[in-house]
Amino acid sequence: MPWNGNAHRLSARGLHRSSALGPGVLRRVVPAITVTYPARLIVPALSISLSACSGHQSALDPYGPVAQRIADLSWALFAGGAAIFLLVLGILLYALLRRRTDRHPNHNAFIFVGGVAFPVVTLSVLLVFVMRIGAAVTAEEENALRIEVMAHQWWWEFRYQEPDGEPRAITANELHIPTGRQVVVALESADVIHTFWVPNLAGKLDVIPGMTNELRFTADREGRFRGVCNEFCGAQHTLMNFSVVSRNPDDFDRWLEGQRQPARPPVNDWLQQGQDVFLSSGCPLCHTVRGTPARGSTAPDLTHFGSRLTIGAGTLENTVGNRQAWIASSQHLKPENKMPEFRMDSESLRALADYLGSLE
Ligand code: CUA
Repeated sequence: MPWNGNAHRLSARGLHRSSALGPGVLRRVVPAITVTYPARLIVPALSISLSACSGHQSALDPYGPVAQRIADLSWALFAGGAAIFLLVLGILLYALLRRRTDRHPNHNAFIFVGGVAFPVVTLSVLLVFVMRIGAAVTAEEENALRIEVMAHQWWWEFRYQEPDGEPRAITANELHIPTGRQVVVALESADVIHTFWVPNLAGKLDVIPGMTNELRFTADREGRFRGVCNEFCGAQHTLMNFSVVSRNPDDFDRWLEGQRQPARPPVNDWLQQGQDVFLSSGCPLCHTVRGTPARGSTAPDLTHFGSRLTIGAGTLENTVGNRQAWIASSQHLKPENKMPEFRMDSESLRALADYLGSLE
């Protein structure tokens, strides 16, 4: 909800009127407090924080059962924490307002209930609650779709599991999944520790060199989300993002079939010129474009690069202008990434950018 100044003024007045204590009583109790100023702060703070609950990168906007359970747990913790906070404030207020002549409470009983019994019961209930959620979110289903994920400084590689002998669909920084079917991502790292996190779909899991960690989740409706690396992993940790697209199973199958195909050959002289620049400029040393001699494996597979949403793991939108900018000055846009900058005349640069865009 957008912040609205008039609504705030109305709410502040409403607070004056509806408060059981009334501003006069509150001011007497704690002279420094006036109701108007807290209301001016609280109302915008609430509207800003609540508007952050929905969105394409929010654990509080779940798109599947795993994320739903995590969101439920978050709300339960928030509500419980708020209730305990209010309880403590109430006790504090009681201690402040109590007359010295009042009878003292029984200290031992108070300490036993508040300091031992209450925490033990609360934490035990919470432990059972959390363990049940943990068991539910880690169970693997029978027809799960397995996807191998390789984390690199600073990009993500996704390899789809295929029957033996079939060409494999490989994407970079873009994960497509079908709705209604469990996805198991097998996480490996090519270099340092990273963390895989798509807040709308699941909790986060570390990606550790030499280990394969598995994360399971299901998207129950279509959407587009942002995934991030959540562990500091070097200079460009913040530019190690990926897009996740959940689509209905038919759409997904069509997409996957398209990704298995080799790259489409250039359809005119201009794109042919772009491909020639690509093949002669050193690009094939690191990148693969299936269907061409380019077979490099240390950088993202570009076979269907034209269909991707972003360049450089979420650094830029995938437009022809940004492709040229990336090729010519990737070290300026994302310093220390492993792609060197390529100097070439503007016609070659434009032809190369158009050719890459045509790889849909
Ligand atoms: Cu990879 Cu942070």
